[in-house]
Amino acid sequence: MKSVTAIVALAVLTAGCSGDGSEFTEPAPSAAAAATAEAAAPVNSGPPAADDITTLDGVAYASLTGDVASGKSAFMQCRTCHVVDPGMNRIGPSLANIIGREAGSVAGFKYSEANANSGIIWTDEKLFQFLEKPQRVIPKTKMIFAGMPDAQKRADVIAYLKNPN
Ligand code: HEC
Repeated sequence: MKSVTAIVALAVLTAGCSGDGSEFTEPAPSAAAAATAEAAAPVNSGPPAADDITTLDGVAYASLTGDVASGKSAFMQCRTCHVVDPGMNRIGPSLANIIGREAGSVAGFKYSEANANSGIIWTDEKLFQFLEKPQRVIPKTKMIFAGMPDAQKRADVIAYLKNPN
């Protein structure tokens, strides 16, 4: 840790010494170039298609076995906003029978356009992808949740949602 601090301090000193201030303008063109490259790359040009189930961590849902009991505890993270009782909408819609449902189809819940028009069917695999990083899969979702980076926990929550009793 100490050596890292030293390197950072050295870097700051070096930057300070280099003189004409050009280092402050240099990053702009390269950042623009990076942005262009990003726009050109189809991978980064928007959310995954509704039937795309690729994850950021590269884990396939099929490679895991969800555990209902662990999923019940992991669901604590969702419980602030969701319950599994049918017809009970809270901050988020009821998650009763969510698997196999069309996104945005819980009666009586006021969805964002982004969620309602996503074209997603909540298969196990799509939910697995969504829970990793919701804002990636539905940009502008009003679900304020950073995501569950732990793939096994995502599989567990899905197992619980399929069997919430
Ligand atoms: C801070 C509140 C909050 C938390 C925490 C939260 N959600 Fe949500 N969730 C929402 C809201 C609000 C929506 C509606 C999003 C919209 O309309 O844009 C939503 C939408 C969803 C949907 C889409 C439902 C549909 O009918 O299309 C799923 C699935 C979902 N959440 C699952 C989960 C799971 C599983 C967790 C826990 C890992 C979780 N959420 C955590 C608030 C939350």
